[in-house]
Amino acid sequence: MSESNNFSKKGYQAKDDRYQKMNYRRTGKSGLLLPMISIGLWHNFGFTDDFENSSDILKCAFDHGITHFDLANNYGPPYGAAETNFGNIFKQNFKQYRDELIISTKAGWDMWPGPYGDYGSRKYLIASLDQSLQRMGLDYVDIFYHHRPDSDTPLEETMGALDHLVKQGKALYIGISQYSAEQTLQAVNILNDLGTPCLIHQPRYSMMDRWVEDGLLNVLENEGVGAIAFSPLEQGILTSKYLKGFPKDSRAVRDGRYLKKEQINEKILLKVRQLNEIAKSRGQSLAQMAIAWLLKDERITSVLVGASSSEQLLDSLKAMENLEFSSEVLKRIDQILK
Ligand SMILES: NC(=O)c1ccc[n+]([C@@H]2O[C@H](COP(=O)([O-])OP(=O)(O)OC[C@H]3O[C@@H](n4cnc5c(N)ncnc54)[C@H](OP(=O)(O)O)[C@@H]3O)[C@@H](O)[C@H]2O)c1
Repeated sequence: MSESNNFSKKGYQAKDDRYQKMNYRRTGKSGLLLPMISIGLWHNFGFTDDFENSSDILKCAFDHGITHFDLANNYGPPYGAAETNFGNIFKQNFKQYRDELIISTKAGWDMWPGPYGDYGSRKYLIASLDQSLQRMGLDYVDIFYHHRPDSDTPLEETMGALDHLVKQGKALYIGISQYSAEQTLQAVNILNDLGTPCLIHQPRYSMMDRWVEDGLLNVLENEGVGAIAFSPLEQGILTSKYLKGFPKDSRAVRDGRYLKKEQINEKILLKVRQLNEIAKSRGQSLAQMAIAWLLKDERITSVLVGASSSEQLLDSLKAMENLEFSSEVLKRIDQILK
């Protein structure tokens, strides 16, 4: 019986060939495979965004084998809105596919007022995941992250809270984000002692931001922890979109919270222009080349993209068609970006 016959004819039916369109990599030494490209809901899923467009992006993602949707407690705007919108999209479209999805959320940045809605205390993390599950209408998340290191809270307390949530069944796996190489090693050791290995690290990593190459990737490889790179397109800078000015519907114009127009100056654009030429010579868009550049390293389990439309996501997905880089091209890219 074909898959579509198994489900009600009403509503969204995922494409039958979705798993032929994606490759999956093992997350560190765990049993979990993640798609080489995952989708994040940091932007474009708030109450100020078009709900149908948000919903279309996730359907397009899943139809192309993207099984991993990444959230955080404070994605919006306002904080919590992306989880609430996701909950509605999930209820309308994805309930029947729950066991085919890896849904993650995080806590660690400011979320609610007062001393218990920020950083890394046990109080914050446990309360926050309960709130996230409620907003999303889920019984559990697949991955729960501590969103950023907090040097004022003992690491044992933060890791202990993550371990507790796994043992309670509210999260299947746990992860950390933006921890340095040294902090990661400490966290991994504590978690191993607790019996809940660290599944994955979520660092910022792109051609333009390579801090992970200075130790973190080696730690992850040695410890068998996966890596999922966020902001691979530098929020849109590593695409051709700003080469002819500031498009009205771009992140830098629509939403100046995290990407400011001043960041996209002539010095940056000169580099982007040169990278764009290399991408063209490879038969790729710059976005595709930027994603492929990350995936060429097998230690990168998945590249976590954002998209403001399904068309953008379709463009980014084509990155997987060419992951090969000659040493000359790699050298040229390094020269441009140094
Ligand atoms: N752990 C953390 O601390 C942390 C921090 C940040 C992000 N993240 C995660 O990483 C995810 C991705 O971050 P991000 O949104 O900054 O990623 P990104 O992929 O670097 O940027 C996405 C933006 O680039 C533009 N874009 C995407 N594909 C394009 C294409 N093919 N052609 C032209 N433009 C394209 C769109 O912006 P326009 O709006 O201009 O169209 C899109 O919203 C987040 O959703 C979140 O899940 C995690």
